[in-house]
Amino acid sequence: MGDLFGVIGAQRACRRFDPDGEVSDEDLGRMLEAAVHAPSAENTQPWAFVVVRDAEARAELAAWWTEMWNAGGKDLVRQTLEKSLVDDLEHGFARGGLAAATVVVVVCADTEKVHDVYLAASIYPAVQNLLLAAGDLGYGSLLTTGLTLFGVDGVRQRLALPDTMTPMAAVYIGRPARALAKPRRNPAASVTYREQFGTPWRT
Ligand SMILES: Cc1cc2nc3c(=O)[nH]c(=O)nc-3n(C[C@H](O)[C@H](O)[C@H](O)COP(=O)(O)O)c2cc1C
Repeated sequence: MGDLFGVIGAQRACRRFDPDGEVSDEDLGRMLEAAVHAPSAENTQPWAFVVVRDAEARAELAAWWTEMWNAGGKDLVRQTLEKSLVDDLEHGFARGGLAAATVVVVVCADTEKVHDVYLAASIYPAVQNLLLAAGDLGYGSLLTTGLTLFGVDGVRQRLALPDTMTPMAAVYIGRPARALAKPRRNPAASVTYREQFGTPWRT
């Protein structure tokens, strides 16, 4: 606990969960407290979280992913992504990887509280806090947004969301089935400029 940069530096998308891995309500409570400490436009705090543990509901959510993947998602990502990532995504979407996460937190935005233009910008800091807190507590996690865009009607119905609540992200949380390698990221200096775009931050 308490090593923020250690947690940030280890953040990886987990798509292989231990189906027997428990996520306690106490730990979830801490993750959600971290989430609601995020900044939001005009401090509107326009979020709501639906914690899905029920196996049948998780299987239904996962089945929608499989449908999307088989209907063309796979062909699309194959054109641009390296094979190991496509395989990993396939494991998550089509071979039960995501369904094995013992908890799915669906993050919704209250469209009555915040203007459309601020909606995503006000939700994702909370989502990121959730991911970091999950990592800090030793859990694996995965942020997804596709289902809440393409499968939005199904998600709405399944979770009994009122019209004013828009599902924006589904965060899968569980125990990783295997240790994750270090993340691969380009160094900050390679994407940072001094005063004007094009002037390297470091010379
Ligand atoms: C907005 C957003 C949407 C994402 N959607 C998915 C997704 O639908 N499925 C998935 O497996 N990973 C998803 N990811 C995770 C990314 O693939 C992952 O963060 C990225 O490839 C970096 O890889 P790493 O976490 O393994 O280091 C998403 C990440 C973000 C920020």
